[in-house]
Amino acid sequence: MKAAPQIIGHRGAKAYAPENTLASIHTAADLGIEWVEVDVKLTADNIPVLFHDETLERTTNGSGKMAETSYAELQNLSAGSWFSESFADEAVPTLEQAIEACIERGLGLNLEIKPCPGREVETAEVALDTLSRYWDDHDRLLISSFSQASLETAQHMVPDWSRGHLTDAIDGQTIELARHVGAKTININGNHPDLTQDSIETLIDAGFPVLAFTINDPDHARRLIAMGVDGVFSDNPDQILLKH
Ligand code: G3P
Ligand code: MG
Repeated sequence: MKAAPQIIGHRGAKAYAPENTLASIHTAADLGIEWVEVDVKLTADNIPVLFHDETLERTTNGSGKMAETSYAELQNLSAGSWFSESFADEAVPTLEQAIEACIERGLGLNLEIKPCPGREVETAEVALDTLSRYWDDHDRLLISSFSQASLETAQHMVPDWSRGHLTDAIDGQTIELARHVGAKTININGNHPDLTQDSIETLIDAGFPVLAFTINDPDHARRLIAMGVDGVFSDNPDQILLKH
């Protein structure tokens, strides 16, 4: 990654289209957003797909665990009808389809490796193997995860690709863990009640650009940027863009 992105569409543009679908990626591009973040996990038969939760209920019309669902079963489900009937035809996309959409639209990609429990290493391996077959623009690529094991796998497989250490709360271990995986950025929860100017400065002083999720209020984004945050993830990134 050359420079930390300032505005990243969260799960595509989650406020306007069903999260982690091709429609959501295209919506972010339509809005003029330059980077998107999407979550990748594996189906039961090891196909990397865009999906956030461990279970299917919230964002599809199916039920059960993603880790126990085959890709063929997944294809029968709608990933958009829960959001609006106008998105009923949206399927859970494969990572490959999502990469193609990002390349077609010229988007930078933050791929968050979001493994089902116990699948931390293999999720990173399969996702990064897929990505390595399609993605050339390493200046506009960031691999992130809350999972240290997934980031360690990325470090071993593709050491030159930028990694982001994701964390819900900044604590005494944050910098050490980020350094351990050679992270380029630290991606923090920008809504955490304990977040302070001091805690952000500690990360910056240690040499890490800071990205903050998930910021939907333009005023909050402005405050974070004034505190030294380099960029924000947003469900409504166009609103952040307008007021930036
Ligand atoms: O990568 C930033 C953000 O997406 C992390 O949280 O739960 O939305 O994947 P989550
Ligand atoms: Mg995410």
